[in-house]
Amino acid sequence: MECDDFKSNVSDKASLQRGLSTYMNYCYGCHSLKYSRYKRVAEDLSIPLEMYENNLIYDGSKIGELMNISLQKDDAIEWLGAYPPDLTLEARLRRPDWIYTYLRNYYPDSSRPYGVNNRVYQNVNMPHVLEDLQNSLPKAEYDLLIYDLTNFMTYVADPTAEQRKRIGIYVLLFLTIFTAFAYLTYKEFKKDLK
Ligand code: HEC
Repeated sequence: MECDDFKSNVSDKASLQRGLSTYMNYCYGCHSLKYSRYKRVAEDLSIPLEMYENNLIYDGSKIGELMNISLQKDDAIEWLGAYPPDLTLEARLRRPDWIYTYLRNYYPDSSRPYGVNNRVYQNVNMPHVLEDLQNSLPKAEYDLLIYDLTNFMTYVADPTAEQRKRIGIYVLLFLTIFTAFAYLTYKEFKKDLK
């Protein structure tokens, strides 16, 4: 099926913070973010380190550590039928619009082990972990929750994107000013050449 449009905004820190919170509470039990560090995320999202440590690290890990989880591969395959992959780079692997659509397209299907199936990822072995939320929230609010979650996953897949954009603007500004001065210097020299 076609994916719904998704336009990320990784400079919206409030959105990223909400997405992180949803991720840590609903996804992190199964999906590590092992190419990322807690501290990096805290700093990028402007969350004080102590607040982050007290509220978003549940297994006693230190703030400087990589975001690993304790779920063992064999156990996961036995319990879930598949190993939940690390999702650090998922937004680059699958694209954000895929994730955004995937998480909003679970439907009841009694032939499947969890009683649900997915329109984007047929016969997926992941339970619909957000089912209660989806049922209790108005559609617009659920969509926003998934927007924030996908936005966070987009950030985590490419954490320097914002910084690159900012530096890019300075580089362009520098080049423009430099070109102006180079031109003025050229004109000065040209006068003497006549
Ligand atoms: C109970 C464990 C569990 C939880 C919690 C969980 N997942 Fe999954 N997830 C899985 C498993 C297992 C798979 C692999 C499914 C398969 O291969 O059939 C998966 C697959 C995925 C995939 C597709 C990976 C790929 O490219 O093949 C995405 C995206 C994903 N999960 C996102 C999430 C998000 C976001 C959350 C939190 C809202 C979440 N998952 C919570 C178990 C879980």
